[in-house]
Amino acid sequence: MTSRAMDYFYFFAGYFRSRPFHNSPELQSFVRETIFKRGIKTFFETGTYRGDTLRWVTKQDIRLRCLSVESKRLYYQLAALRFRNEAVIFGESDKVLPKVLPYLAEPVLFWLDAHCGSVSPYPLKAELDAIKRSTKRCLIIVDDYNDPEIAKDVEKPDTVLGWERDGRAHMVAVMDWMGA
Ligand SMILES: C[S@@+](CC[C@H](N)C(=O)[O-])C[C@H]1O[C@@H](n2cnc3c(N)ncnc32)[C@H](O)[C@@H]1O
Repeated sequence: MTSRAMDYFYFFAGYFRSRPFHNSPELQSFVRETIFKRGIKTFFETGTYRGDTLRWVTKQDIRLRCLSVESKRLYYQLAALRFRNEAVIFGESDKVLPKVLPYLAEPVLFWLDAHCGSVSPYPLKAELDAIKRSTKRCLIIVDDYNDPEIAKDVEKPDTVLGWERDGRAHMVAVMDWMGA
């Protein structure tokens, strides 16, 4: 199978095997609670892929404005078919974020997950810098915090949530910038 055919295969297989937030019940309930307890107005994801997480979040609270940015054109096009077009933005997260941040209603919940398929350097540091500059009140969840390449130069989080699945440890960092 060509890599493009593989991309299509994995994308459509996801319709039957959705994995929002890595299918982690711990992370899903943390996000659900955060949305309601913190009165989150906007959910912003970097790295849409199939849109599994985006779809799950849109179902938690219909008042929530949900946006996601994807840099791979094929994934963007397929995901855009799945959602209202304006929910998925095409582009590199570190370039898109500074442009859209001023227009996001706060508080914002960020899910920074633009990793796999990313060209080095990973965009995480630039994403966090852009969010910090915007001074938006937000709570940030960073995926794969235990990957030293991804989390390189990233500041110490307020909380780290971890779990194990398929024999692999997953960790997310939570940065609480609500007081900023
Ligand atoms: C782990 S997948 C995202 C999964 C999705 N967030 C979820 O939870 O269902 C990572 C995605 O990030 C995308 N990506 C990588 N680098 C990116 C960047 N700089 N900007 C936007 N998207 C990027 C990849 O193409 C891939 O689709």
